Amino acid sequence: MKKPIILVTGSNGQIGTELVNALQDRYGIDQIIATDLKDKEDSVGIFEFMDVLNVDRVERIIEKYEVTQIYHLAALLSSRGEDNPALTWKINLDAYLSILHLAHKHKIEKIFFPSTIGVYGPTTPRHNTPQNTSFIPGTVYGISKITGELWSQYYRNRFGMDIRGIRYPGVISYSHLPVGGTTDYAVEIFFEAMKNKKYECFLKADTRLPMVYMPDVLKATLDLMAAPAKDISISYAYNISGFSLTPNELYEAIKVHIPEMTISYVPDDRQKIADSWSETIDDSVARNDWNWNPDYNMESMVKDMLANIKI
Ligand code: SER
Repeated sequence: MKKPIILVTGSNGQIGTELVNALQDRYGIDQIIATDLKDKEDSVGIFEFMDVLNVDRVERIIEKYEVTQIYHLAALLSSRGEDNPALTWKINLDAYLSILHLAHKHKIEKIFFPSTIGVYGPTTPRHNTPQNTSFIPGTVYGISKITGELWSQYYRNRFGMDIRGIRYPGVISYSHLPVGGTTDYAVEIFFEAMKNKKYECFLKADTRLPMVYMPDVLKATLDLMAAPAKDISISYAYNISGFSLTPNELYEAIKVHIPEMTISYVPDDRQKIADSWSETIDDSVARNDWNWNPDYNMESMVKDMLANIKI
């Protein structure tokens, strides 16, 4: 079988940084075209400067490398998105529409679209949130992502394109810090625990949110994209979750390893966003369709994070 040539947008982000490595390992270093606004000092493999808003440039890169798959990771997250709704809409939705258009024109074989728990809102059931439910998100991030999901479905239904997506919960990882998200505290807390043994949390102690650890994000994304097309029942985005936790539970789990650690709580604007999201997720459709099954729970994630963080 011919190896795919995969274009990744937003390759320097929290997920992009690690997904590019995982894709290189799986498909070969010369098969992956990493793109972002800036290069990274330690980047390995093919990198191209690319602004996803520059449609001509995106098309030139697709043509230059004869791209066969696109992972469109470039996005502004929930909290940062509120600072500039117009730009967030452009990056998260307009750029995705151009990519769908170019993908159709250039007969791209597969597209990956990352969605989020940010698509939920105050009308969504917060416990065991079903795959299909009420979506009235309160952030421009959530509005742009649920609209993106609908466009994915439209392109699949109208043009038969193979488009797959995941609603990522909060992603915990140690290689690259997330920027501008509401779940970022769950990464920051580890770095502060290692550096200063104290953390000031911007969410309340009992705010429960679904999370997933990066190795499971990589597994989910690669497994979904490699699954036979006949098993993929939905083209918008699958619910997945690793575990759900509160800041206090995460603090207690870290304290097992760093007993001197202290925490204080100073909720800011992000509290309102977190309060509108789900606490726990029903990811049974992903489990049935492509055997999603996370390897990490909170305890094993905490142990692995603390063993791997370099400060
Ligand atoms: N991590 C994202 C955020 O907090 C949720 O998808 O915005």
